[in-house]
Amino acid sequence: MDTIMDNRISPYAATNILLALITRLIAPASTILLLAYIAYYGFLSPLSGIPGPFIARFTRLWLAYHGWKGDFHIVLTEVHEKYGTTVRVGPDEVLTLSPDAIKKIYGAGSLFNKSDFYAPLKGTRTWDLFAEGDSIVHRNNRRSVNHVYATSSLIDLEPYVDSAIQHFVSILRTKEGKSFDFDVIGEVTFSQRFGLMETGEESESLKIIKRAARSGSWVGHIPWVYRIHQRLSPLIGNHLALNARSGAIRDFTLQQAQSRIKRGSDHRDMLSKLIELHGQNPAEVDNTVVISMATSNVFAGSDTTAVALRSIFYHLLKNLGCLKKLLNEINDVVGDIDIDKPVTYEQANKMPYLQAVMNEANRIHPVVAQSLPRIVPEGGLQVEGHSLPAGTIIGSSPYVLGRSEHIYGQDAKMFRPERWLEGDRSQLLSGFLAFGGTSRMCLGKNLVWIEVSKVVPTILRNFVINFADTDVEWKLQS
Ligand code: HEM
Repeated sequence: MDTIMDNRISPYAATNILLALITRLIAPASTILLLAYIAYYGFLSPLSGIPGPFIARFTRLWLAYHGWKGDFHIVLTEVHEKYGTTVRVGPDEVLTLSPDAIKKIYGAGSLFNKSDFYAPLKGTRTWDLFAEGDSIVHRNNRRSVNHVYATSSLIDLEPYVDSAIQHFVSILRTKEGKSFDFDVIGEVTFSQRFGLMETGEESESLKIIKRAARSGSWVGHIPWVYRIHQRLSPLIGNHLALNARSGAIRDFTLQQAQSRIKRGSDHRDMLSKLIELHGQNPAEVDNTVVISMATSNVFAGSDTTAVALRSIFYHLLKNLGCLKKLLNEINDVVGDIDIDKPVTYEQANKMPYLQAVMNEANRIHPVVAQSLPRIVPEGGLQVEGHSLPAGTIIGSSPYVLGRSEHIYGQDAKMFRPERWLEGDRSQLLSGFLAFGGTSRMCLGKNLVWIEVSKVVPTILRNFVINFADTDVEWKLQS
């Protein structure tokens, strides 16, 4: 009996053994691993020769922090000014302003897949044009819906854009005008405005979209947080605003689509065009594709257009010479009769200065300030003397690139639409990522161009515009 008792280990002794094990084995092993990690990412990795913020070499939390803070437009400008045109901003991530590299990464036919940054945006959905990582899958998917977003098809929608513009102008005559961008998307997609111009309120959906975009801009840099959250969400509920992209906003779109189908309409709006595509090719364009694209219109097409409009009016008011030139051009093309009628797309295309103003406002103040990250494919990539192995994340910030002196010269940070009329266009476009690169170019760009090139001259014909308060400067958040 005594012998048996002697062989038992008391709980106290077991704790001591465990602590000894931790001290003798696990703690030194972790220290060795940590030192190996620091040595590799700090000094031995193939990216270690690329300059950048020291802390960012070791952790993606640096990127996530600035995504959360919303100051990429400031911090990435500073990083490029301090460290050069090709910089390292993560253990495996590099940003560049090199036009040669930009062409390879974002140019036509590029096989640089979108990085894991987009995975939380895609969630578990199989069809998502914007967030699809695989270039080949994306190319095939895009081919099946491209037609609906071509100018030749969108031009049918001009009367509905006109109706939204006329309504906006009539509201502006009596009170503050808001939410044109969101209501016009409702009009062209579902033949029905969301009624927000009347209320002057920012809709709940728009608030959700803004919160989702904000959340995506940090979660995307640490997608493991998203994956853990999704696993735990049956227990802890949803705490990521980003999930609205496949939740609340998709439900809102579905509701709008169902109500549009029930109402019926003789308008050939975008929903009816997508449903037509479904009828012609149900295997390729199934219901998921129709709803996914309509959701894209709602999610990607409202706040983005608002930012573009704000940039145009802000820069025109800061540069009154440009405003005067534009007013003269508008007057030359459309005169001063029928000012209630919206400027037609055809007339807007006869206004080269207007087109230059739109390009310049998007160059100097694009919607996206952080990088559009891609993965270096097999074979690697040479950028300004650095060899990036396959798997490295590479990208560029449309905001910093658009203001690059290497591309736009010493006046790069000035709003000067004339550069688009006198310069070498291919040189100007080499730094223009406001609507993404050729291979993943914004599908809604043609629609935005129609809307904006009509609404800007129509407003300028009808109103004298001024800053409400000249002492207050705008605050930017990316
Ligand atoms: C001024 C307004 C807009 C701006 C500045 C803008 C900007 C962009 C940018 C930068 C990208 C590329 C993102 C990347 O490479 O990761 C993109 C893609 C996209 N945008 Fe827009 N966008 C605007 C309006 C719209 C509108 C109105 C729609 C829909 C009606 C739309 C739908 C899309 C879609 C579907 C993609 C993914 C395209 C693809 O990967 O093939 N956007 N947009």
